[in-house]
Amino acid sequence: MDLGIAGRTALVCSSTGGLGRAIAEQLAAEGARTVVCGRREAQAKEIAAGLPSAVGVGVDLLAEDGPTKLFEATVEAFSAPDILVINGPGPAPGPAAGVDVAAVDAAFDALVRQHIRLLAYVLPVMRARHWGRVVAVGSSGVAAPLPNLALSNLGRAALAGYLKTLAAEVAADGVTVNMVLPGRIETDRTAAVDAANAKRTGRTLAEVREASAATIPMRRYGRPAEFAAAAAFLCGASASYVTGTLLRCDGGLVQSL
Ligand SMILES: NC(=O)c1ccc[n+]([C@@H]2O[C@H](COP(=O)([O-])OP(=O)(O)OC[C@H]3O[C@@H](n4cnc5c(N)ncnc54)[C@H](OP(=O)(O)O)[C@@H]3O)[C@@H](O)[C@H]2O)c1
Repeated sequence: MDLGIAGRTALVCSSTGGLGRAIAEQLAAEGARTVVCGRREAQAKEIAAGLPSAVGVGVDLLAEDGPTKLFEATVEAFSAPDILVINGPGPAPGPAAGVDVAAVDAAFDALVRQHIRLLAYVLPVMRARHWGRVVAVGSSGVAAPLPNLALSNLGRAALAGYLKTLAAEVAADGVTVNMVLPGRIETDRTAAVDAANAKRTGRTLAEVREASAATIPMRRYGRPAEFAAAAAFLCGASASYVTGTLLRCDGGLVQSL
């Protein structure tokens, strides 16, 4: 597919693994100058070296100066981003009742605050250029909150509300803002959530995975490249009239309209 983004600068947060990596690979294959990043600098550099035009940067997005460092590294390597993929680590699983308030603050920081700080750098440039794509990696939990993932449900719903408000404010400047909702895509994160469920319920990992796949109409977990294709479409030139949406990529997992 030609997404019309050759030469555009793409900053893909948390792209040393999982969904972020798959998105970075697809955007780079489309000719975008791509920043691959995560805490593991060597891994970021190794992935970038295998892509057509990319740099790898080691940044902890959750550190106070993480968003600043990420923006500055992108400008130094290429330019301010035309495409920003918002992505980061998910909070630890756990129930809503009795949740630790300090953990709520940490989850809000990770899922909302740091992304808003990064957007504060990126948006003015996109608006001045009259072209920009912001795509956030959310969760199927935004559409149908997931049991035992209280902090994730909380933070992602907050981000979704913020981005919907933002989308309307920047639409006339040629900047689109969308969110993609993954449901059970095969990554380290999915493996960790399944392991936690197995421990909590006393089942084996295989039993948990089988039961989980059975709830998905496709009867299987998704592949990162399948998710990345949906995200990459929203980053493309041809998605210019799509904004303020939540796009599910979940094999039919969420049952509601
Ligand atoms: N996979 C799914 O089906 C699914 C479903 C719902 C929601 N999600 C959410 O989607 C997001 C991505 O999930 P994933 O499945 O791709 O997870 P993953 O495979 O665990 O990858 C997480 C990525 O985040 C990076 N990361 C972790 N802590 C970081 C930090 N402090 N600063 C910067 N980067 C950091 C990791 O790299 P480093 O170790 O190098 O930092 C890695 O590249 C998560 O928020 C997850 O909860 C995923």
